[in-house]
Amino acid sequence: MKTFESIDLNDIDPKEAHDLLISAVTPRPVALITTQGANGVMNGAPFSYFNLASIRPPMVSVGITRNNGALKDTVKHIRDSKMFVVNMVDEDNVEAIHKTASALSIDESELEKYGLTPTMSSTVKAPGIEEAKIRLECRMKHIIPMEHRGTVTADLVLGEIKQIHIDKSILVDGKIAASKLRAVGRLGGSDYTAIGNIITMKRDK
Ligand SMILES: Cc1cc2nc3c(=O)[nH]c(=O)nc-3n(C[C@H](O)[C@H](O)[C@H](O)COP(=O)(O)O)c2cc1C
Repeated sequence: MKTFESIDLNDIDPKEAHDLLISAVTPRPVALITTQGANGVMNGAPFSYFNLASIRPPMVSVGITRNNGALKDTVKHIRDSKMFVVNMVDEDNVEAIHKTASALSIDESELEKYGLTPTMSSTVKAPGIEEAKIRLECRMKHIIPMEHRGTVTADLVLGEIKQIHIDKSILVDGKIAASKLRAVGRLGGSDYTAIGNIITMKRDK
């Protein structure tokens, strides 16, 4: 018989809960979110509290933590410009994208600093990056503040996908081939994972 460790999240320190939960919910897709500030500076940061939220409408969700109440540059720019680009993280770009997590001042561009190449978007002002094989151009629909123990500590961003750009080299018979995209997922701590064995299941009719 299995025995379980059962933990009430109200009883533990938020840092401990963070370490536990990011190891429990894995692997998570990683998005490099690129935005443009009112000052014209291009901002980029990775986010793994990220997923597809719906297909009709085509929406993504991103959870962005506040730093002692202060909004991260990404949320500020999304709030002000209502636009952002999701650049999917893969084995070829993960190293450079990982570096963009460092907190630079709002006047400094992570893209420039870490050698990522901005590329124009078609439907939004924010640029994507050339190093991503898939880019989703998104318009902000909702920013929902989230409270923890009586204080707003994070925001849930919901964005509608307006356009998808796919590197043709990852298409096989018109479909995205997982073996060519080589997406990377986030695990606990500082760990990432590459796609391992693919398990194909048929659904009962
Ligand atoms: C792989 C990875 C995933 C991350 N995921 C998130 C996330 O989902 N939410 C979040 O608030 N911060 C996340 N971070 C931290 C942000 O990237 C970091 O705070 C960054 O400096 C924010 O940049 P900005 O101030 O330019 O928005 C992650 C960091 C890494 C390396």
